[in-house]
Amino acid sequence: MSKEQELGKAFDFGLFKRVFAFTKPYYLIFWVVAVVAVALSAFAILTPVLVKEIINNALPNNSEAQLTRLVVLMLVVLLGQVICQLSFNYYANLLGESVIKDLRIQLFRKMMAFKMTYFDNSSIGVLVTRAVADMQRIGEIFSQGFFVIVADVLKMVAGALVMLYINWRLALIVFAILPVILIATRLFQQAMKVAFIEVRAQVSNLNSFVQERIAGMKIVQLFNREAIEKEKFRVINEKHQNAWLKTVWYNSIFFPVAEISFSLGIGLVVYFGVIQKIESVALGDTGSIFAFFFLMDLLFRPLRQIADKFNTLQMGMVAANRVFKILDTDSHIADTGTVEIPGVKGDITFSDVRFGYVEGEEVLHGISFEVKAGETIAIVGATGAGKSTIINLLNRFYEINSGTILIDGIDIRDFKLASLRSYIAIVLQDVFLFADTVANNISLQDKNITKEAIAAAAQEIGVHNFITNLPGGYEYNVKERGTMLSSGQRQLIAFLRAYLSNPGILILDEATSSVDTYTEQLIQQATNKITEGRTSIIIAHRLATIKKADTIIVMDSGRIVEMGNHRELLENGGYYKDLYEAQFLAEEVA
Ligand SMILES: Nc1ncnc2c1ncn2[C@@H]1O[C@H](COP(=O)(O)OP(=O)(O)OP(=O)(O)O)[C@@H](O)[C@H]1O
Ligand SMILES: [Mg+2]
Repeated sequence: MSKEQELGKAFDFGLFKRVFAFTKPYYLIFWVVAVVAVALSAFAILTPVLVKEIINNALPNNSEAQLTRLVVLMLVVLLGQVICQLSFNYYANLLGESVIKDLRIQLFRKMMAFKMTYFDNSSIGVLVTRAVADMQRIGEIFSQGFFVIVADVLKMVAGALVMLYINWRLALIVFAILPVILIATRLFQQAMKVAFIEVRAQVSNLNSFVQERIAGMKIVQLFNREAIEKEKFRVINEKHQNAWLKTVWYNSIFFPVAEISFSLGIGLVVYFGVIQKIESVALGDTGSIFAFFFLMDLLFRPLRQIADKFNTLQMGMVAANRVFKILDTDSHIADTGTVEIPGVKGDITFSDVRFGYVEGEEVLHGISFEVKAGETIAIVGATGAGKSTIINLLNRFYEINSGTILIDGIDIRDFKLASLRSYIAIVLQDVFLFADTVANNISLQDKNITKEAIAAAAQEIGVHNFITNLPGGYEYNVKERGTMLSSGQRQLIAFLRAYLSNPGILILDEATSSVDTYTEQLIQQATNKITEGRTSIIIAHRLATIKKADTIIVMDSGRIVEMGNHRELLENGGYYKDLYEAQFLAEEVA
């Protein structure tokens, strides 16, 4: 769908209703804003009426009492106007912020339930924009769009009615200028709409460019890409500048045009009212002329801004449309299972499992194997063979195409998703750490896991010293993605995280990256400890791990090519023997 189509479609009534349904819990605020909007227009027309009274009656009468009364009244009106404006701004914003607070929670909850395929196919930047920038735009529907338009229209209608009431001939003369300003407004709005789409596209280009270059700065510097990246950035930046300048240009044309129409109106009122002496004005009704000046301001000022407000409203609707599209996406793993047992023994059976990440591209071609409770199996094979894929299936990150996976003889789809995942702890190939302390990264903010428990567990698997040697120990902040740690260190923390959850089934996707002998030892020791007495599947690159395994599964291109223990496989003289000789022998000799 093109951006223009998106804009066009965004203005349907159903969408509007859906956005406004979110105000339901805040109906009181909603009505405060609505009532204040009406009060604002009432106050706005009182000033011109009072001005007229002062000029036409109080001044000629030279009545001090009357003058004082009117001036005090004017003060009251002004005060009322100030209070109304203040409440209007505050409550309209409060309503907007309340709505997006709820909406954002809904969106985030929805996102957390999406299956991995969804994230494989979505850009992080886009999802972040939906949750942050688009939400802000939706809030602006309330704080700057809809209610402001309603208040402005009310003011304009009230102003026009008072004009007609005071002097209908003069009023009609003023109205004659309206088409000019209406046409100008319409043209302006259309031009701005297109310009803003361009601005947003360029802002998002700029965002993703900077975001990606910062993330990949190592590559930029490593390959001396600075000059090329600078040039690319210059081009994007220039496009961004041009897009913004276009909106500035339209603004610079439109506002003088609006200003001129307003002055033209004043000129016409003076000309017909004073020089041509339209009926009744001729009788010395100077007050009406002044009242008209005020009323015209009431009519023209909102008109000038209404184009802008409509854009805000429209942008909000576009944003809402995008957010709702995510909310309406049905991409979660069906959690229809009912089995919820406190723990599992840990028997695992794969029978003829077929799976592909993308439709029509099968990655696993009929995988069958069995792990008995308490056993350790190792999976080895070339890169891209499908080793990590196997473990992605066990905890239902992805749904298999055919075949069955059983744990303790129960189909994994029959477990409640949350309990299934509570039986399995996984140390992923690339460990992800949050920008938080080591302790919080281990407990993941689970209040039931005390600091003492963490330290005790760390001692058991032999990583306590390593952690206390970090600056700050358990309170060391590892920063975004754990950049303050080496990949070996990150993996040790992930080990501890897995160990503490005391799972029935442990899965370890060993990182291929080589680590120093000391860390290697720590990892080996921790691995031995945490696999002890529980079913473990280890995607192994370390010979020590592999040798210890009860069964080794050898994979190639999505198929299991050999199975057996180390000795058997070597005797077999097949794929494993070649792999062993090529990869591990050097290690063993060293
Ligand atoms: N999220 C994904 N979306 C689409 N295809 C994927 C995805 N993850 C992996 N693949 C593909 O699936 C195949 C198996 O990948 P997998 O990650 O299981 O390999 P691996 O055996 O773990 O390799 P390595 O030893 O390098 O970790 C590869 O061809 C890869 O391109
Ligand atoms: Mg892998």
